[in-house]
Amino acid sequence: MATTRSRPFLSERNILLVIILGVLVPVVLMSAAGIVALVIGGVENIVIGTLVVSFALGSLGAAVTILVMVRRRARLARQQVTFLTNVTHELRTPLAAIRLYAQTLQLDRAATDAERRECAEAILRDTERLGQLVERVLQWRKIAEGRRLYERRPDAVEPALREALDAFRGLLRSGEATLELDLRATRPVDIDRAGITEAVLNLLVNAHKYTGDRKVIALRSRDVEDGVEIEVEDNGIGIPTADQGRIFEPFHRVDDRLRSQAPGVGLGLAIVKDVVSAHDGRLRVRSEPGKGSAFTVFLPAAPPAREGGAS
Ligand SMILES: Nc1ncnc2c1ncn2[C@@H]1O[C@H](COP(=O)(O)OP(=O)(O)OP(=O)(O)O)[C@@H](O)[C@H]1O
Ligand SMILES: [Mg+2]
Repeated sequence: MATTRSRPFLSERNILLVIILGVLVPVVLMSAAGIVALVIGGVENIVIGTLVVSFALGSLGAAVTILVMVRRRARLARQQVTFLTNVTHELRTPLAAIRLYAQTLQLDRAATDAERRECAEAILRDTERLGQLVERVLQWRKIAEGRRLYERRPDAVEPALREALDAFRGLLRSGEATLELDLRATRPVDIDRAGITEAVLNLLVNAHKYTGDRKVIALRSRDVEDGVEIEVEDNGIGIPTADQGRIFEPFHRVDDRLRSQAPGVGLGLAIVKDVVSAHDGRLRVRSEPGKGSAFTVFLPAAPPAREGGAS
């Protein structure tokens, strides 16, 4: 029995081939003919040459536009596949655990009250994890559709950083990580406090998730010339240079065994990027595999006329 794969006719490669053979080659030939006509001179030749060269350039422009659109569509299709892979992977683990604990209860395999409570708690924990996953995907949908609103007003960043820290501490087991704080920024920036809290929390959660046993996580903020900088640094597994530009794309996860054990769908940094760009800010990463990573968020200062409104 022979097995074959489905082969899409209009693959990105086929379209590229059609464009090269059907557009680029004729365009080059037409341009050459047009230039020859222009060089020969004479009113008739100059008119024909100009028309031919303009037509060739127009066709080239159209081909480049089509190429860009095809590549964009191909990227979206790839993202869709990665999204489905990540989400199904993330659904599988809690679903299997919930089934197991529910069966234990159904078959009366939990002997004591304490064991039964443990099963119920585990079911609740995994249901919570599923709920968070759904929330995250819905939130990304809002961002992707351009429906997320940020209500910015002049404020210091510290309250947002403290809220993120409180939420982060709630997720930590005691003694699990050393937190180093250096919060010095006082300059007011136009911020949506909930958005910045969420962005910093995402960075802190990543710093925790992608760091081994001796976790040292630093949160810093400082005033800089034209705004404030917030930095989250860890001593974790780091990010390979080739991936550093892509981790902010939705659904991109660095592909290695250590990381694939950490739960996630690859949306955290894409959400951080959206929050930062809605604040007209900048997001940078410095990282060295095996040593750690530092994510820096720059937020521009609020215009002077509005600084008075800071609380
Ligand atoms: N501090 C970090 N150290 C090492 N790798 C990181 C760090 N932060 C992010 N990454 C890498 O970048 C990828 C994308 O991060 P992102 O936060 O967008 O998604 P995620 O953590 O995989 O999932 P989610 O945040 O949606 O739960 C991660 O999968 C991981 O490979
Ligand atoms: Mg994350």
